[in-house]
Amino acid sequence: MEEERLVTSTIGQTETEIENILRPKSMDGYVGQEKIKDSLTVSITAAKMRNDALDHVLLYGPAGLGKTTLAHIIAGEMGTQIKITSGPAIERAGDLAAILTNLNERDVLFIDEIHRLNHNVEEILYPAMEDYTLDFIIGKGPSARNVQLPLPKFTLIGATTRAGMLSAPLRDRFGVICRLETYSVEELKQIVMRAAEMLSASIDEDAALEIAKRSRGTPRIANRLLKRVRDYAVVSGHDKMLLVDAKKCLSMLEIDELGLDAIDIKLLTSMAEKFNGGPCGLDTLAATINEDGATIEDVYEPYLLRLGFIGRTPRGRVLLKKGYEHIGKQMPEGREKQVSMFELDEN
Ligand SMILES: Nc1ncnc2c1ncn2[C@@H]1O[C@H](COP(=O)(O)OP(=O)(O)O)[C@@H](O)[C@H]1O
Ligand SMILES: [Mg+2]
Repeated sequence: MEEERLVTSTIGQTETEIENILRPKSMDGYVGQEKIKDSLTVSITAAKMRNDALDHVLLYGPAGLGKTTLAHIIAGEMGTQIKITSGPAIERAGDLAAILTNLNERDVLFIDEIHRLNHNVEEILYPAMEDYTLDFIIGKGPSARNVQLPLPKFTLIGATTRAGMLSAPLRDRFGVICRLETYSVEELKQIVMRAAEMLSASIDEDAALEIAKRSRGTPRIANRLLKRVRDYAVVSGHDKMLLVDAKKCLSMLEIDELGLDAIDIKLLTSMAEKFNGGPCGLDTLAATINEDGATIEDVYEPYLLRLGFIGRTPRGRVLLKKGYEHIGKQMPEGREKQVSMFELDEN
């Protein structure tokens, strides 16, 4: 089996257990996202004072930024149980009905990847979220009857990486909508220090900073790199992870000082060399690095866009000046002017 990519923000198959260990359990331990924490804390406090369920919460943002973690923290702060499922796991309307009727008052139902709920299931959710009732039809044809069952007052927490794929009626039923942002280097450093502590490993601050810089704004990646550096330090005979361990380990893993790996570099290089900087279509580009278009779009491209290394135009992707510079190349003469005439997407 091919080794899993280190700097991808999606979760690997063997990672779940360690992720659970590293999850902060309270708002205080949850680094960054200050605005979201503040507004959630107000909503949670108010709900508790009213002795009421918290409003339904939608968490959206790229993978690995702390959506699942936050859902657990919310339930913890509310002092309620959390029941966890995901969009693709709920196949039929009856499955969701069973989950809903088994909830207790004020429980949290966490639906991960909520944009992947199928339509029949989603329709059950509307009245459940709005009126706390289960609406369904018993029987077929002329004898069919509409039945309504009361549900406990619960809180739905939905998480999605693709808020744009959520239907409007579903989105409108969330009282609190939180968009998670990527983390600053300073915040990631704090996350790394904290995670090291939870793993009972000690780390120098500048080693933590080095890991933070290469983590693409994403806690999941930071934690993953930390584990590799820890192993490296152990093998090097160091009790404490030092800056040299971080640097040597990460360069051995071919993760550069901005967190780009060999595949990112290959992508940038082929844009420069094979496509003269583009625009080139996603699928053409994907073929040159043996990936499919969707993977490029979801996994590689967002960070390169964020860094301003590449741009998106209606005709395909273009390599920008900073992208050329990062791979040690000069943008060709006159090219900058040309690129400025493409309609570049914002973001
Ligand atoms: N704000 C944060 N502070 C500390 N650790 C975090 C934070 N956000 C995420 N993490 C860590 O990153 C890992 C991935 O977070 P997770 O909640 O699973 O992301 P998502 O559900 O958005 O993909 C978790 O193991 C958690 O320990
Ligand atoms: Mg998650």
